[in-house]
Amino acid sequence: MTSRLRHHFPVLENCVYLNSNSTGAVPRGAEPVLRRYWETLCAWRDDVWDEWLGDLRAYGDAVARFIGGPPGSVVTDANVSTLLGRIASCFDYRPPRNRVVTTHLEFPTVPFIWRAFGRYGARLDVVGADAPGFDEDALERRIDERTLLVCVPHASYATGAMIDLPRLVKRAHDVGALVVVDAFQTIGTVPFDVAALDVDFVLGGAHKWLCGVGTAFLYVRPDLLPALRPAATGWFAGDAALTFRPSSDLAGDARRFAGGTPFPLSAQISRVGLDLLAGVGIDTIREHSLKCTDRILHRAAAAGIPALGPTTPAQRGGVICLAVPDGEAVKRGLARRQMICSWRGGLRVAPHIYNTIDEVDAFMDALELELQQAGR
Ligand SMILES: Cc1ncc(COP(=O)(O)O)c(C=O)c1O
Repeated sequence: MTSRLRHHFPVLENCVYLNSNSTGAVPRGAEPVLRRYWETLCAWRDDVWDEWLGDLRAYGDAVARFIGGPPGSVVTDANVSTLLGRIASCFDYRPPRNRVVTTHLEFPTVPFIWRAFGRYGARLDVVGADAPGFDEDALERRIDERTLLVCVPHASYATGAMIDLPRLVKRAHDVGALVVVDAFQTIGTVPFDVAALDVDFVLGGAHKWLCGVGTAFLYVRPDLLPALRPAATGWFAGDAALTFRPSSDLAGDARRFAGGTPFPLSAQISRVGLDLLAGVGIDTIREHSLKCTDRILHRAAAAGIPALGPTTPAQRGGVICLAVPDGEAVKRGLARRQMICSWRGGLRVAPHIYNTIDEVDAFMDALELELQQAGR
């Protein structure tokens, strides 16, 4: 499968690209989409919005299909932060149910937003400190009748650790809390089925594991929609969007979480990568990912390089984070050797379906050389 896919991704021609948890490779099918966009601008007519809105809706529905949700359950916007703010704006944080339980392994935007909602009464409870993995026992204990929302990542951006979602969803629902999952670091590399997991909100984005650019998405459990009324909103969330008449109500589907005028190009480009991955199938992607990350772990152990996150397959996402001294400098040294990864307190090595085991070996050879030559 990998060899049949590789020609779709130009970036693979000039480097070993193991950076998909930061910015995924974009398929060459994006080029005609860009050209078409430019041609549209050159012959501009406002009527093109009908087609663009169709494309945006089709991308949302394709994401929904990819994660097991029905049509209309996913809305798109520029980034996760915007969409999380819209979720947060649905609630009134009246005590005693005003707590938001989260973890120490969130992407920084998550606590930043919840602290801002402290102004409206949200009480943030961050569970865990320092450890590379999640403390599900502590999380379970801290989720109680005062909990309004449990907001957790599916996998940590910093260590690659995955959380036990079924366990936390059960605990949250047992006490009447809702669950928001930031799945940016898993959707596209780890199977994610919204129906099986019974999650309430799922956030994710295109530009990492989904081989797209510049668009994020939000899934909302359809039966919750009628009761959810975001205060951070805009005219595209209304039931009369683009009619230029005032809406009498919010849209009935997940588009009630939309804002102002959307930018269609990022969804149009991202559709190309999503369709490629959907054609491969997420189980095949996960199987290949585990083979590659197993290889990284094996090579790292042999070279005496510690892994930061969990090593058992069920507890790790698509990335392996390695503890190397002077990591930022090591990352730059590797880039000079055309070996591309990222550094966030650990060296993040992130193979995708388009990477080969030979590339993983070439990367680990280069890493060992880099560490030896720098005397690290
Ligand atoms: C887990 C996670 N959440 C969110 C984001 C990004 O959030 P936003 O789209 O608001 O920039 C990232 C990385 O960019 C991430 O790794």
